[in-house]
Amino acid sequence: MTHHSIAIDGPAASGKSTMARALAERLGIVMVNSGAMYRAVTWKTLSEKIDPKDKGAVIASLQKMEIVCSHDGTFSTITINGTDPTPFLREPEINANVSTISAIPEVREKLVGIQRDYLKKTHVVMEGRDIGSVVFPDTPFKIYIDADPSVRNSRRSDDGEIDSVEKRDAADSSRTTAPLKVADGATKIDTSNLSIEGAIAAAIETLKKQGFPMQEKKNPRLPEGETRGWMRWMYWLGWMSFGAAYRTIFGLRLEGMENLITSGPVLIASNHQSFLDPPLIGNLYKDEMVFFARKTLFKGPAKWVYPQWNAVPVDQDRPDMSSMKTVIRKLKGGWRVLVFPEGARTLDGEIGEAAAGVGLIAVKAGVPIQPVRISGADKALPRGSGKIRFERITVAVGEPIILSPRELKSYTGKEGYEALTKRIMDAIKAL
Ligand code: DC
Repeated sequence: MTHHSIAIDGPAASGKSTMARALAERLGIVMVNSGAMYRAVTWKTLSEKIDPKDKGAVIASLQKMEIVCSHDGTFSTITINGTDPTPFLREPEINANVSTISAIPEVREKLVGIQRDYLKKTHVVMEGRDIGSVVFPDTPFKIYIDADPSVRNSRRSDDGEIDSVEKRDAADSSRTTAPLKVADGATKIDTSNLSIEGAIAAAIETLKKQGFPMQEKKNPRLPEGETRGWMRWMYWLGWMSFGAAYRTIFGLRLEGMENLITSGPVLIASNHQSFLDPPLIGNLYKDEMVFFARKTLFKGPAKWVYPQWNAVPVDQDRPDMSSMKTVIRKLKGGWRVLVFPEGARTLDGEIGEAAAGVGLIAVKAGVPIQPVRISGADKALPRGSGKIRFERITVAVGEPIILSPRELKSYTGKEGYEALTKRIMDAIKAL
């Protein structure tokens, strides 16, 4: 089988990694960070007390390095002589020396070979400086990400890194072998004034125009033994019956479906109007997902049915850490999960206050967040009434919120969770 490669190139701190990570999660393919390979060789060289400018010594040491690159389902991994250097790769001395090491043709030759090998086994989105020009020059899927130097410098210092971005760019662009440049056929995206979501939307648009086959991929992050892409019969029965009812009785209207993330883990945050809401969201997808349900509902036949519908019992009366943990584990395991940040159904049709729980889950799981707004379901099945009314229901799907590692860090602690919850609720209200 031929594997696809998406090449993302650009200068330091332009947003390449965040972009490549988001694309990998949305498309269900593997993200390869080629800069980490150059950083890893730099780390090894420095840890052997070799002067990076001593080309001969670097090459001699390189020949003894056993570099093993693989992936964990979504992200590339690396070891050198059996050690994983990842924790050390963003140190100031690596930033200061990586351009010197990566200008050595022998280093590039070895690493480019390893980068190309990924394509023997998997589809990749690879980010770096020469991916579209040297590593995969024949791929039709090429994006060049740029941003103003001032924006890039502040992104790096916000990350808490000591890095002279412009100095590194000058070195990376002026070297003889595989300099940083816009590859033939690449589309440029300037992220200076774009939000992360905006930049990702622009990249998705670009890939569609370049002809990338956007079909869903089997989620590679699912744990062994858990398969999706099919439904167990009881889940299917509910999905199908509710789906038919929505389309006939309630004239279901869907908006923003182009924003819907259909593969990989997603935290869906929706307002809550009625008991119709969970299967309403479940019907947006063609495979199974995970829900929350009030603990008290798990009795009688529902005790058997609810688990078949992937409902996690939650205690509504007090903070329920164990169900939160279950949900975070599910998200980390590659599932999409629906949460209602308001906790309970609306009394008056308006969107109510939200507790910080959704922010906490989003930060701990670190997955894309999809805001969704339901309207009309409160009239179709009002709270406190068992009677169905023929009211039109609309489900509006918002642009995903994909947090960069920097943003994730900034949303820690109670205040951080609250701030992120507010951002999510504002996104729902804006739909
Ligand atoms: O993407 P990054 O900032 O982590 O990359 C670190 C350095 O590695 C960068 O300054 C130049 C080098 N590099 C390269 O030469 N070619 C690549 N494809 C990726 C990175």
